[in-house]
Amino acid sequence: MSVPAESQWQALAQAARTASRLAHCPYSRFPVGAAVLSGDGAIFAGCNVENASYGLTVCAERNAVSRAVAEGARSIDAVLVYTPTAAPVTPCGACRQVIAEFGNAARIRCICDGPGMLEFGLTDLLPSAFVRSESAL
Ligand code: THU
Repeated sequence: MSVPAESQWQALAQAARTASRLAHCPYSRFPVGAAVLSGDGAIFAGCNVENASYGLTVCAERNAVSRAVAEGARSIDAVLVYTPTAAPVTPCGACRQVIAEFGNAARIRCICDGPGMLEFGLTDLLPSAFVRSESAL
């Protein structure tokens, strides 16, 4: 687990901004892009994908995590979320839990089109997450 260098945050920001342009969000018209930095330094991006049955919508963060895992990543050092808004937006509760599965110590940065920027540890956003426990299985 390592803290991302500023150059890695910049690469994550670029990937998330690019991904947001591919969001499928005809219902909310709220595009989101996310980028995951895996433990071995690779970057995986995702966008939100909405559905006519609304409840099947998947957020950008979860799509980015799934993409990372499908490419073999098993740990997450950081997640950056981009929204084309005036103020930054933080990941929803479901996404926090999904990030915790692979990155309970991950850094989370939220950026937007305004000057604001937020940064957290995942444990700030989701204290005492439910994570797998060898003794419980
Ligand atoms: N959304 C995300 O993709 N990530 C977030 O952090 C917040 C919400 C999406 C879900 C839905 O497609 C749209 O934004 C409005 O909620």
